[in-house]
Amino acid sequence: MSTHHIHVTVNGTLHHADVESRLLLVHLLRENLNLTGTHIGCDSSSCGACTVMLNGRNVKSCTVLAVQADGGEVMTVEGLAQNGALHPIQEGFHQEHGLQCGFCTPGMMLSSVALLKKNPNPTEDEIRWGLSGNLCRCTGYNNIVKAVQYAAKKMQEA
Ligand code: FES
Ligand code: FES
Repeated sequence: MSTHHIHVTVNGTLHHADVESRLLLVHLLRENLNLTGTHIGCDSSSCGACTVMLNGRNVKSCTVLAVQADGGEVMTVEGLAQNGALHPIQEGFHQEHGLQCGFCTPGMMLSSVALLKKNPNPTEDEIRWGLSGNLCRCTGYNNIVKAVQYAAKKMQEA
């Protein structure tokens, strides 16, 4: 089994690691870096619980090898809050009760941030389509949509 030396910037901090070729990005984050906010739901690219941002684009980190992130920049849910202030999407999920068990929430928030980056003022249909790669077993999605609408409004006012 070959080992590779990689360096990845995660939430603004540079990390070096020696990893096996087969190590998945989600395992690098959770096990090597102790960033357990990124969840593993299905391990087969269906649920979106493992969604993180890699070089400005969202990926399902259960289907990306750690070596593919070499030299890259990753943002996880732990990187959303800045200087102790919640990101508007975090505020939105809190204010609009956008979670129940919370298992899907980190991935939902990263997908929401990517959506709002591309489309700062999405319609309800666009929000539902933008989050269609993320599954939630608890909420029925309505309050998740409201959370994204809250964040969109707040980010436009900023
Ligand atoms: S754990 Fe990656 S998509 Fe479900
Ligand atoms: S809040 Fe439980 S899976 Fe979404």
